[in-house]
Amino acid sequence: MSELGDLYQELILDHNRSPRNRGKVEDPDGCAQGYNPLCGDQISVSLKMDGDRIESVKFEGSGCAISTASASLMTEALKGKTREEAAVLFEKFHKLLTEVGDPDELGPGMGKLKVFSGVCQYPARVKCATLAWHTVKAAIEDKDEPVSTE
Ligand code: FES
Repeated sequence: MSELGDLYQELILDHNRSPRNRGKVEDPDGCAQGYNPLCGDQISVSLKMDGDRIESVKFEGSGCAISTASASLMTEALKGKTREEAAVLFEKFHKLLTEVGDPDELGPGMGKLKVFSGVCQYPARVKCATLAWHTVKAAIEDKDEPVSTE
């Protein structure tokens, strides 16, 4: 594996071992449950808004290393973003995993989310990496029904 690949893998392992923002925000403005039917893993996301900006996002649940690391990095990436910016970032992230594979083609703003570029080569893992994102999208909309990655 390349040096960059090693670095990316290390960051994913670190966020899996020590996930950031695990738990539930107090007095949330939005909550949602997400579900990956391929493996049965579930996640819940809660968030606190400050006007149109995401003040904090937390997650609970268990999944594979990719889904846990993705949820952890997502909570960091979304802090301070507007709803619109969050939607744009999700779109870019999804594109990175399903179409592009090269974060530099997506313009600025991907930050640490670039570490998931390798997932593009493993289509079965795309749902793992996007589970938290589908869930946070529903939390922003404060949807009651659980969302699925399908
Ligand atoms: Fe279940 Fe990855 S195997 S989310």
